[in-house]
Amino acid sequence: MGFVLSDEQKAVQKVVREFVEKNIVPTVKERDEKCIFDRKLTDGLYEIGVQGLFHDKKYGGGGGLVQTYAVALEEVCRHDIGIAAATSVTSCLYAWPTWFYGTEEQRERFLRPILNGPKLGSFGLTEPNAGSDAAMQQTVAVKDGNNYIINGSKKFITNAGENDFILVFTMTDQSKGTKGITAFLMEGNTPGITYGRPELKMGINTSMQREVYFNDVKVGKNQLLGEEGIGFRIAMKTLDLGRISVATQGVGLAQGALDHAIKYTKERVQFGRPIASNQALQFMMADMQNLVDTSRMLLWRAAYNMDHGLPYALEASQAKLFATDAGMKVATDAVQLFGGYGFIKDFPVERLMRDAKIAQIYEGTNQIQRMVIASQILR
Ligand code: CAA
Repeated sequence: MGFVLSDEQKAVQKVVREFVEKNIVPTVKERDEKCIFDRKLTDGLYEIGVQGLFHDKKYGGGGGLVQTYAVALEEVCRHDIGIAAATSVTSCLYAWPTWFYGTEEQRERFLRPILNGPKLGSFGLTEPNAGSDAAMQQTVAVKDGNNYIINGSKKFITNAGENDFILVFTMTDQSKGTKGITAFLMEGNTPGITYGRPELKMGINTSMQREVYFNDVKVGKNQLLGEEGIGFRIAMKTLDLGRISVATQGVGLAQGALDHAIKYTKERVQFGRPIASNQALQFMMADMQNLVDTSRMLLWRAAYNMDHGLPYALEASQAKLFATDAGMKVATDAVQLFGGYGFIKDFPVERLMRDAKIAQIYEGTNQIQRMVIASQILR
């Protein structure tokens, strides 16, 4: 694995950077303040090939590397991890398991439209009482001839209400614990599915999360993903990839905050000289740079492993844990370097610090990542 991007990766990075600077940067402040999820932006990321970048060409994907996807998504995350979350939930948490576990018929119905979109997908795992303890699924699916009837609810679901499709985890046999969980694919507007109000959040206000309710939702048995009872395994394996994309959020957000800090400290004059000339602040920025680079190396290693058929669950959790803690630390230090200006909404570092928090929480809290890492190394 090299640390230098290939010419192709540099070209992808350039295209995404230009798109982000033209479309995402000018509006992110207003979208954050007014809590606007602008679907035109995820549509745009689809159009320039980010959303389907590493997916199978056979179904309309780009056939690229997950590492190239990380390079592309980092460009979005430097300025707006909310939009990055919306596109990556579609790509990593919805489309990937549909491809990996789906039958040909399911790939045609539930994957091809996403890759020939623009369309959005959701991942319905979390429930009011099943967060870190994802096995505690209370949404039930009961067999009814050739169908299943689903009742229950899902919480904090990204893209909910905007989603064309959703992957839903249910309990089909309570007595079997994790082996009683079964996953289903369905259209977002399937009769019986309704959506709650948008969640009011501390950050990632540029994305949409709502509760999803299932009231006698009837799905065919041909919508069952994999087989009965392997839903928990599907969720866990999918989250291994999801954690690579959340690590990308940590890396990109940290890089964005550091870029703002470098620019500001070189321009801001106090005591007759730019504040960047103070060694105390230089040392802070040196540490920030190290956190960014170390995070990116962990991220690229996890992506490399996935691209090359090597185990990547451990590496994905390590990258997610380190990079999102780094994102929080670097964004917080960037606010400190901006002083009072960092605390007001005129400068982007205030938003980056609020946005950074969720990356330490979603797709497995950083405490859960430590459990995953420990269980892998102690096996
Ligand atoms: N790949 C494949 N299988 C896996 C796996 C993986 N990475 N991890 C676990 N499994 C399997 C195990 O092998 C085991 O199978 P066997 O019984 O056959 O051995 C089975 O799953 C159960 O594993 P555990 O006993 O380890 O399960 P657990 O109940 O102790 O939970 C956990 C483990 C790591 C804590 C898990 O519950 C977890 O990851 N929790 C966090 C949930 C989470 O990340 N939620 C995020 C929601 S999505 C989100 O945030 C999206 C968004 O909108 C942005």
